[in-house]
Amino acid sequence: MKRILTGIQSTNNLTLGNYLGAIKPLIDIKDELYLFIADLHSITVPFNPDELRENRINTALLYKSMGLDFEKNKIFFQSCVPEHNQLNYVLLCHSNLGELQRMTQFKDKSSKFSQENKTLTIPTGILVYPILMAADILLYKPDIVHVGKDQKQHIELTRNLAERMNKKYKKELFKIPEHSFNKVGSKILDLQNPEIKMSKSNENKKGTIFILDSEGDIRKKIMSAKTDSLDNVKYDEENQPGVSNLLTIYSSIKNISITDAEKHFIGKKYGDFKREVADTVVSELKKIQDVFYELKNNKVEKEKLMKQLKKNADECKKIASETIKAVYEAIGMNNE
Ligand code: TYM
Repeated sequence: MKRILTGIQSTNNLTLGNYLGAIKPLIDIKDELYLFIADLHSITVPFNPDELRENRINTALLYKSMGLDFEKNKIFFQSCVPEHNQLNYVLLCHSNLGELQRMTQFKDKSSKFSQENKTLTIPTGILVYPILMAADILLYKPDIVHVGKDQKQHIELTRNLAERMNKKYKKELFKIPEHSFNKVGSKILDLQNPEIKMSKSNENKKGTIFILDSEGDIRKKIMSAKTDSLDNVKYDEENQPGVSNLLTIYSSIKNISITDAEKHFIGKKYGDFKREVADTVVSELKKIQDVFYELKNNKVEKEKLMKQLKKNADECKKIASETIKAVYEAIGMNNE
């Protein structure tokens, strides 16, 4: 049995990209799974405490609604295990500015801030956040980190930091994790601009499907998704990125290969193709939404879930504190 780990921010409503890229493949997984709600990552950009409070709970309820088992898997709030921050600081002191400034996500996010704000107040959080991510991972010595393709560079940084520390302290302080992506769906693209990934922070919200979007909105977004003038439902990332993205969404939900999805749509007009993709997304998300709203209104179930999250965090804390103890000892801070 392998140990798999992943985390998802609780910044806002989850997207179809988060679901297909990171969560769906982990539902019913047989391996040992560590999955945390990365609330500390959600404060790397300006935030509102009331929204954060609400989003943390909603994220947990959504995980449950998607079918993740909170008893079998270690699902918890990142901030409930303070060791994430302890290791974060030690790793930060073993990193350098250049490697953080090279991160593509930092460049993207900071460029958005510089456009908005001529005085260039770039939050430090977005620069140092890959280090916290490395701490999240290395604390638990996972075999595999499961993420979407956009996180590849951060996993490489994690591996570099782990190797650097192991070498410097001549000890296997950390396991060097492998990373895994889905065969299909590891990069769901924006429906309006299939050059970029679907994301909650994309400016044009018509290109992003949120898990809690209404049926009407989902249909509208898919029916107006950018395609091309070839009127041929074919997977061709270069010449038909919009159509390829819809085929990816369809086959990820249906759990079929892209080739089978292509066969299914042979000879179909784009209008019919989009309608069927929309039906598929609506039916998948409706199942999740129904459970979500039922849970949200059920105080007893909600409390039960919160208790389980706390229990899971306590178990994770035990493992995390072992790692911190070994790291502190190695760097010369023996406190016991
Ligand atoms: P976040 O919250 O931006 O995204 C959560 C997960 O969803 C995947 N994802 C996508 N996959 C396919 N298509 C998309 N359009 C798409 N958009 C997002 C992401 O790749 C990710 O797997 N820093 C991380 C959270 C994190 C983490 C970690 C992940 C914190 N610590 C430790 C793994 C291990 C983040 O911001 O992901």
